Amino acid sequence: MTSPDFSPSAEQNKRPILSQLLQLLPPHGRALEIASGTGQHAACFASHLPLWSWQPTDTHAEAFPSIRHYARQAGAANVLPPQLLDVCAERWLAQQPAAADVPPAFDLIFCANMLHIAPWAACTGLMQGSARHLSPGGVLVTYGPYLEQDVATAPSNLDFDASLRARNAAWGVRQREAVEEQALLAGLCLAQRHAMPANNLLLVWTRPEAAQGLVNQLAL
Ligand SMILES: C[S@@+](CC[C@H](N)C(=O)[O-])C[C@H]1O[C@@H](n2cnc3c(N)ncnc32)[C@H](O)[C@@H]1O
Repeated sequence: MTSPDFSPSAEQNKRPILSQLLQLLPPHGRALEIASGTGQHAACFASHLPLWSWQPTDTHAEAFPSIRHYARQAGAANVLPPQLLDVCAERWLAQQPAAADVPPAFDLIFCANMLHIAPWAACTGLMQGSARHLSPGGVLVTYGPYLEQDVATAPSNLDFDASLRARNAAWGVRQREAVEEQALLAGLCLAQRHAMPANNLLLVWTRPEAAQGLVNQLAL
């Protein structure tokens, strides 16, 4: 790799996202990151969550050198070697033969900025796969722009939506309520909604039985 990939937006949003993750997560656990992209998020979050293991993934192996670069630069030895993962696949991650019927479980599944830049099937795949791979009290955290029924959409998000659709008719900023429907079909529910800088949302999804505990835990 001549130079690592660089995402200005990941550089800007990694600290606000990190501060939400630090409030949400217990001190240790296993994280699976979907659509890691450049790897800036993986390096930042894993280095501030030293008792977590962080599994970066992407559907493009071309991203892996950059992911490894940022993890090395941050000294984040808890970032595991990146793996290929397409959310639409029926099986996520290579499994140990001895545990072929037991999908690996994660306490956090993190996915930033993928839903709008992939076909709608990726939303279904993300929710179904997360339901398969979340540990009993685990959470799925999604981050990115959304449209919402009862919230006026920022002009920047409308422009972004139009530019995405012009690039690819299957892309577009997703309606939060439609994402919620896919979550419910998969057996997950929306437990928290956090407004983030630049008109983004950080959404926390979990199993209904874990949602109350999450609220209680945060209310302490
Ligand atoms: C805009 S980038 C976001 C990267 C990073 N998460 C961030 O926020 O900077 C979108 C990422 O989604 C990944 N992606 C697209 N379709 C996917 C799929 N079906 N499964 C997993 N990742 C996918 C792309 O490879 C790309 O890395």
